[in-house]
Amino acid sequence: MKDIFLVLLIMVVIATPSLCVTVVPHADSSFNVVSYGAKGDGQTDDSQAFEKAWQNVCGATQDTTTLLIPEGKTFLLQPMLFKGPCKSGTINIEFQGTIVAPKTQGAWKWGGLNKGAWVKFSGISNLVIQGGGKIDGEGASWWQTYPEITPNALQFHQCKNLRLSNLTHINSPKIHISIYSCNDFSIANIHIIAPEKSQSTDGIDITRSSNILVENSNIETGGDCIAINNGSTFINITGVTCGPGHGISVGSLGKNNTYETAEEIYVHNCTFIGTQNGARIKTWRGGSGYARKITFEDIILVGAKNPIIIDEQFYAIGHNDIHTGVQVSDVTYDNVRGTTDSNNAISLTCDDKVGCTNLVFNNINITTMSGSEPFVECYMAHGKCSSSFPNVTCLSA
Ligand SMILES: *[C@@H]1O[C@H](CO)[C@@H](O)[C@H](O)[C@H]1NC(C)=O
Ligand SMILES: *[C@@H]1O[C@H](CO)[C@@H](O)[C@H](O)[C@H]1NC(C)=O
Ligand SMILES: *[C@@H]1O[C@H](CO)[C@@H](O)[C@H](O)[C@H]1NC(C)=O
Ligand SMILES: *[C@@H]1O[C@H](CO)[C@@H](O)[C@H](O)[C@H]1NC(C)=O
Ligand SMILES: *[C@@H]1O[C@H](CO)[C@@H](O)[C@H](O)[C@H]1NC(C)=O
Ligand SMILES: *[C@@H]1O[C@H](CO)[C@@H](O)[C@H](O)[C@H]1NC(C)=O
Ligand SMILES: *[C@@H]1O[C@H](CO)[C@@H](O)[C@H](O)[C@H]1NC(C)=O
Repeated sequence: MKDIFLVLLIMVVIATPSLCVTVVPHADSSFNVVSYGAKGDGQTDDSQAFEKAWQNVCGATQDTTTLLIPEGKTFLLQPMLFKGPCKSGTINIEFQGTIVAPKTQGAWKWGGLNKGAWVKFSGISNLVIQGGGKIDGEGASWWQTYPEITPNALQFHQCKNLRLSNLTHINSPKIHISIYSCNDFSIANIHIIAPEKSQSTDGIDITRSSNILVENSNIETGGDCIAINNGSTFINITGVTCGPGHGISVGSLGKNNTYETAEEIYVHNCTFIGTQNGARIKTWRGGSGYARKITFEDIILVGAKNPIIIDEQFYAIGHNDIHTGVQVSDVTYDNVRGTTDSNNAISLTCDDKVGCTNLVFNNINITTMSGSEPFVECYMAHGKCSSSFPNVTCLSA
C-alpha cells in the first residue's frame, strides 16, 4: 500500500512540473481522477480510481489540494466513501464532469461500507465542491420498488466548514443531499431535479446540524424541497425556489414517541411553485421536544396547495395515555403572498396537550386560484395576527 502511494506520488510530481519549481510559491496540488485510471466512459466502474485519487488528495500535506473530475466525461461509481480527516488545509473538489450511479439495484455492491448512501463524505473539514458538474443518482429502479434499503445519493456526515455550489443533481433513489451532524455548511447555486412522482426524493435533509446556509438554488422533486429535522439549529434558507415537491418542512419531529428539537430557523425570499405544501411545521402526536424560533419571511406562492401549515400526524403508540407533545412556539410568518391551488390558505393544527404559542402573522395575502374564499383552520393555536388575508381570527388582533 505504502509503495503504491509512493509511486503515485512520484507520478503526480512528474506530471505536475510547477511543483518542482521551488521559486514559485505554489501550495496547491491537483489530482485528476483520469491519472488514476478512471475511464469516464459511463460504462467502466471508476470507483477504484476515485478511491486512490482521494487517498492522495486527503493524504497530501499542502495548504490546498484539488481532486479534479474533468468535464466531458461520465464516471460510473459504485457506493463510495470519501473519508477524513485529511492532512491538507483545504480540499477542493473541482467537479466539472458527471458521476453516475449504476442503473439497477442489482449492480450495487451493497454491504457494510456506507450503507444508506451512494456517495458519502465523512469526517472531513474545509471542503469545497464546485465546478458546474452533474450528479446522476439513477433512481428510477428504486422508485418502482421502494425497498427499505433505498439509499440517499449524497450524504455528508460529521463534516465541518463545507461549501457545495454550482452543481446539477438529478434522480436520487431517495434524499438527494443528506446533511447529518455537520457544522458550517453552505450550499449555493445548485439545481436538484427528480420527477414529481418519485416518492421520498427530498432535495436536502438536515439533521443534527448547525449553521447551515442554503441559498439561490432550485429544487424540483417528489419529496420535501428541504426538510429540517431533529437537532437542527441556525438554519438559513434564502433565495430557494421549490416545486414540484412538498415544500420546506421543519420536521417531522417526534415520530414514534421520540424527543426531538429544531430551532433558530430562518426561511427568507423563497418561492413555492405548485408544491403540495409551502411553509410547513410537522410533528407527531405522542412525541416531545420543540420546534421554535422559526421565521418564514418574503415568501412567494404560485399555486401551492397548503401554503402555511402546522400539522400533527395522528400516530402514536399507547393512544390513550399521551401526556407529551412537540411544543411549537415563536413562529413568525411575514410577507407571505400569492396563490393556493386549493381552498386552504392557513392551517394550524396544533397538539392537544401543548398547543402552539406565539405564532405571529404579518402582511399575509393568500388568494385562491379558483377565486373562491380561502380557508383558515385552527386548533389549539395561540398568538397574534396583525394583518392577514384571509384573517386568522383564532389569534388575537
Ligand atoms: C460553474 O462552473 C463552471 C465550470 O467551472 C463555470 O464556468 C461557471 O462560471 C460556474 N458558475 C458559477 C455561478 O460559479
Ligand atoms: C435528537 O437530536 C439530539 C441532539 O442532536 C440527540 O441527542 C437525540 O438523540 C436525537 N433524538 C433522536 C430520536 O434521534
Ligand atoms: C442568511 O443568509 C443570507 C445570505 O448569506 C444573509 O444575508 C443573512 O444575513 C442570513 N440570515 C441569518 C438570520 O443568518
Ligand atoms: C431572492 O431570491 C432570488 C432567487 O430566487 C434572487 O435572485 C434575489 O436576488 C433574492 N432577493 C433578495 C432580496 O435577496
Ligand atoms: C418505534 O420504536 C420501537 C422501539 O424502538 C420500534 O420497535 C418500532 O419499530 C418503531 N416503530 C416505528 C413505526 O418506527
Ligand atoms: C391581495 O392580493 C390580491 C391579488 O394580488 C389583491 O387583489 C388584493 O388587493 C390583495 N389584498 C390585500 C389586503 O393586500
Ligand atoms: C381579524 O380578526 C380579528 C379577531 O376576530 C378581529 O379583531 C380583526 O378586526 C380582524 N381583522 C380584520 C382586518 O378584519
